Amino acid sequence: MLDRLLPIIKSAGERMKEFYERRDTEVSFKGETDLVTQYDLELERILTEALSEAFPDFRIIGEESSPSDIGMQPGKVIYVDPIDGTTSFVHRFPFTSISVGIYVDKEPYCAAVACPILGEIYHAIKGEGAYLNGKRIFVSKTDSPVRSLFSTGFSYNRGERLKQMALFSRILEISQGVRRTGSAALDLCYTARGTFDFYYESSLKPWDIAAGILMVQEAGGKVTDLYGRPHDLGSGLIVASNGIVHDEYINEIRAIKS
Ligand code: IPD
Ligand code: CA
Ligand code: CA
Repeated sequence: MLDRLLPIIKSAGERMKEFYERRDTEVSFKGETDLVTQYDLELERILTEALSEAFPDFRIIGEESSPSDIGMQPGKVIYVDPIDGTTSFVHRFPFTSISVGIYVDKEPYCAAVACPILGEIYHAIKGEGAYLNGKRIFVSKTDSPVRSLFSTGFSYNRGERLKQMALFSRILEISQGVRRTGSAALDLCYTARGTFDFYYESSLKPWDIAAGILMVQEAGGKVTDLYGRPHDLGSGLIVASNGIVHDEYINEIRAIKS
């Protein structure tokens, strides 16, 4: 699978970088703050065409051509986010990525995330580890929230953002610091490589996180729901960490949410 997937994500990444550098992005709106550009559509077209040819027995679920409430799908499925971090792409903040996750019967098997502006390609294979530009990566060994770097994201929905702020304030109090990349796929990759110790977000879609989940798991980390139970791709909520600070953080999050 990886031999077929890597050349596709590499070449789509080169196109993305070319588009980013053109400075002619046309923005339209799916919601008040939810953007889409001609390049989201063009990259999804390029990826869907290449992936359908390389994986003829898989269903391709791309963000721009699927219902937003699609949830987790059975069978052989490839989740594609052609630009994860469209707001960053539009504003030319380099943390913007392409995310591709290959699933069989609701289990991730192979995944790749490209951040072409920073020259990063992440991949993971079930049971065989996670890698950044071909080099094995592992989660951090940080063992307390006060020493940990926390990452999160905020919804496009303004009402939802206000609720997310309560949690954000509490985490600011208990962690060493907070970062926001603006790409859920990269938040997970940065957790997998040990930069972030803990990542939490709600209101996400399967294509945002399908690939990143496997990166964290294969780098030795943990991905669950808010109760430490197995994560459900269709739930929109994700908790990912190095495994060590996991429980302390989820207790804090649950205390704020209840
Ligand atoms: C967004 C990014 C962001 C997250 C948003 C997502 P998009 O995806 O993953 O980090 O906070 O909730 O919608 O719209 O740029 O593909
Ligand atoms: Ca996304
Ligand atoms: Ca997107």
